[in-house]
Amino acid sequence: MALKRVSRLSPVLETIAKKDEMDPVEQNLRPKILSEYIGQSKIKEHLLIHIEAARRRSEPLGHTLLHGPPGLGKTTLAHIIAQEMNAQVRVTSGPAIEKPGDLASLLTNLSQGDVLFIDEIHRMRPAIEEVLYGAMEDFILDIMIGKGPTARSVRLNIKPFTLVGATTKAGSVSAPLRDRFLHNFKLGFYDKPEMQKIIERSAGILGVQMEGLASHRIASASRATPRIGNRLIRAVRDFSIIRDEPAVTLACVEKTLSSLDIDDEGLDATDRMLLTTIVDAFGGGPVGLSTLAAILAEEDETIEDVYEPYLMQQGFLQRTPKGRMATRKTYERLGRELPPQAQQSLL
Ligand code: ADE
Repeated sequence: MALKRVSRLSPVLETIAKKDEMDPVEQNLRPKILSEYIGQSKIKEHLLIHIEAARRRSEPLGHTLLHGPPGLGKTTLAHIIAQEMNAQVRVTSGPAIEKPGDLASLLTNLSQGDVLFIDEIHRMRPAIEEVLYGAMEDFILDIMIGKGPTARSVRLNIKPFTLVGATTKAGSVSAPLRDRFLHNFKLGFYDKPEMQKIIERSAGILGVQMEGLASHRIASASRATPRIGNRLIRAVRDFSIIRDEPAVTLACVEKTLSSLDIDDEGLDATDRMLLTTIVDAFGGGPVGLSTLAAILAEEDETIEDVYEPYLMQQGFLQRTPKGRMATRKTYERLGRELPPQAQQSLL
């Protein structure tokens, strides 16, 4: 019998697994225009040029695919693109579009130049994806009306629009869909100075006074991810209120992080358990994803999309064709002796 997995995501990681579109505070912290957006400088450079050129031509920007781990700003960028193009944005997601008719209704209701944002675009059903091809290429929509022998195909024109697709799994976007995007941007993790600027900007918007050492510490513990940093600020703010501090101090941040079980590199209890399992139970690996997920009582996807990208970026984990492997840095971090057979082979 298959075991039902109960998610045990830590409160902070819960925030990157879950969307915060509905959270008004989070929405308020999002930059609204490109000049407010911190980090991802290459992407911003490209967008500035192509948006300005599209504006001068009075044409839509061109379909844009954004990919990268959760919480790095794909949705924010989609809204910024719309804002900078003076366009409206319509938001949906791959799994939310159940029938070709759902997509047809979205597309036929678009106004000239609108941005259609499809989150998790890799999860769109193939039959729906095919309807999208014509819409992306020629702004036409071929839909079948009726069933059986009386079924007929109807062709509709739709207004020129920009599709912005977002995905955490670039490799799962089919080649024909990927090829129809004019722009393809990969969002990377933010460096510490960028994270600190984001933290300070958000603290300013929230009216939270914060010492420099405190924002620096939050930046280091945010997994290089703005969505996590913004959630940490709110947790720290609550601790600071209870401690009756006029400004958030480093001590207050330390207290908050220790209560959330987040260490100095931003790793939480599940990250540490994942690494400990590979090292202690599997001699450093390789271990299959599903085995790890079962031990941690998480979904494969959560391990793959939420935990692993940051652990790999930090050099604690390697994905190999045979499975997940620890690195020398993992052994050092956990204070374990490197086994003799791993002396040569481990990264
Ligand atoms: N808040 C969340 N992401 C941000 C970013 N990239 N720049 C500024 N503020 C942000």
